Amino acid sequence: MRKMRILVLLLFYHYATKNAKSYRTSNPNFILIMADDLGIGDLGCYGNKTLRTHNIDKLAKGGVTFTQHIAASPLCTPSRAAFLTGRYPVRSGMAALSNIGVFLFSASSGGLPTEEITFAKLLKQKGYSTALIGKWHLGLNCNSRDDFCHHPLNHGFDYFYGLTVTSLRDCKPGEGSVFVAGVRAYLATPLQLIGITLISLEVLHYIGFLRIPRGALRYFFLISTVLFGLLLIFFYTFRYLNCFLMRNQQIIQQPLSYKNLTQRLTEEAIQFIGRNADTPFLLFLSYLQVHTALYASKDFKGKSKHGLYGDAVEEMDWSVGKILDVLEKWNLNDKTLVYFTSDQGAHVEEVSSTGEVHGGYNGIYKGGKATNWEGGIRVPGLLRWPGMVQAGVHIDEPTSNMDIFPTVVKLAGIPLPKDRIIDGHDLMPLLQGKILRSEHEFLFHYCNAYLNAVRWHPGNSESIWKAFFFTPNFDPEGSNGCYNSHVCYCYGRLVTHHNPPLLFDISRDPGEKNPLTPETEHHFYEILDIIQQAVNNHTKSLHIVSNQLSWGNILWKPWLQLCCSSIFLSCYCDHESEEKLSLPTA
Ligand SMILES: *[C@@H]1O[C@H](CO)[C@@H](O)[C@H](O)[C@H]1NC(C)=O
Ligand SMILES: *[C@@H]1O[C@H](CO)[C@@H](O)[C@H](O)[C@H]1NC(C)=O
Ligand SMILES: *[C@@H]1O[C@H](CO)[C@@H](O)[C@H](O)[C@H]1NC(C)=O
Repeated sequence: MRKMRILVLLLFYHYATKNAKSYRTSNPNFILIMADDLGIGDLGCYGNKTLRTHNIDKLAKGGVTFTQHIAASPLCTPSRAAFLTGRYPVRSGMAALSNIGVFLFSASSGGLPTEEITFAKLLKQKGYSTALIGKWHLGLNCNSRDDFCHHPLNHGFDYFYGLTVTSLRDCKPGEGSVFVAGVRAYLATPLQLIGITLISLEVLHYIGFLRIPRGALRYFFLISTVLFGLLLIFFYTFRYLNCFLMRNQQIIQQPLSYKNLTQRLTEEAIQFIGRNADTPFLLFLSYLQVHTALYASKDFKGKSKHGLYGDAVEEMDWSVGKILDVLEKWNLNDKTLVYFTSDQGAHVEEVSSTGEVHGGYNGIYKGGKATNWEGGIRVPGLLRWPGMVQAGVHIDEPTSNMDIFPTVVKLAGIPLPKDRIIDGHDLMPLLQGKILRSEHEFLFHYCNAYLNAVRWHPGNSESIWKAFFFTPNFDPEGSNGCYNSHVCYCYGRLVTHHNPPLLFDISRDPGEKNPLTPETEHHFYEILDIIQQAVNNHTKSLHIVSNQLSWGNILWKPWLQLCCSSIFLSCYCDHESEEKLSLPTA
């Protein structure tokens, strides 16, 4: 009898735990948090002692810390495209052939192609509520100003609150300009010359000093002068045209205000979680921090030991804490996978006009954003799912931000798309300790559309070889950044090619200080040979796709310009503040 009772109890226990487990494992919620330009060395859980990131550190303690988590690209637009699709950016045309690798204007026509499948799209089809809160940076329109072909709502998100481009110095008065500085370096002289010539000729024509002949030439002059005028207007109204906040497809603040912006994003995220506490959801929380223009609200400004940059990191950490609190409040901890990363390494060249460091810290790693040195691509990677994923564990194997796609899709019970190559691998076996080695034997590191370096982790060895075909020209003063420039570039005079490639073993030399030679590494040529074979195989798997970052696709197209007020030259509205003001005070 007693035996029988125990058996029944055991059976019951088995059944109950099995059920509990399947309840938890089927359709978990996902909160995917991405910081912008945050360095791996900025976080306490990666060794920082002076920046206070207690909430992010708490997240790390409750789950797995990846120590070799690799962004698919060292730049925002391509890295985010890869993250959402699980594919190298070259496969979707989101990798530039020019040196401009990201979208700069809200009214350009490039963006994540509609045929690409994001994890949000698949989860939405499965009944998930999906939201993107924060930065998008993957395009907006194609042909008309309301087709929204690249908009988040057209890529699987039910709800969007945020910026379609990126936070930029130009968006915040008094913070200087990235855009104008960049244009000045490349185009200012020719533009000014053309402009001055055109206008002088027009003036001479009108005062009768010169006769511009009628016909084609006359029209050419008129049109050129108008175009040039538009360009000038564009320069001086950059903030009004490019820095705006949207809710779904509606502009709610133009230009964007940085006041309490983190609070607003956090509140939106909390509301979304609350609305979906009983149904499966996916939240992609994509912070504007800590890309410049930096900002921090009153409670954080001047509070960190690392200037405005540190304040911004600490405010973001506060926000992460709020999100974790709300999961606790709704009892969703065990049902929710939380992931935290940065789209690329810290931007080491970022210094404000007054000389304050506005870029983060990449720890022992060389270089930063826009380079494929470890500092540009080795990003924080934290993943917590209580009861399902080991807690407090470090995984040193190479993983990629492209791995989130297959991980999330499989956990939601959806088969992976069969009609395309997915470059990411499901992380669950590694996270649960079922396998000990990463499935990424090779990772290909692109600088825009140019294959820059290859990482090889051979199955039978602890070595992690990394071969560079070219490297960016660094500042000879040894500042760890590029020479006389705001970012490093990918081709031309700004890089140095290496033949044979520059080879490192980053398992022994993570700072990429000592390139190996045939003398110091006996298998030097064999290693390079296998890497070359992998490159050949990889290259064969690429198809020709249309380039979303061609000049035609990134330049400003006036007819795609969104403007929330009807007067074109003064795009302005602020529904955000109006809403706040109309709230009852009590
Ligand atoms: C912590 O981060 C700050 C800000 O990026 C950096 O200046 C500092 O060197 C870091 N400290 C350590 C110990 O890593
Ligand atoms: C910003 O948030 C703080 C605290 O939440 C609040 O006291 C303040 O009024 C807010 N400011 C604006 C401009 O909304
Ligand atoms: C390249 O592909 C061939 C054919 O599929 C395969 O046998 C070889 O192992 C691959 N080489 C590498 C280095 O991946």
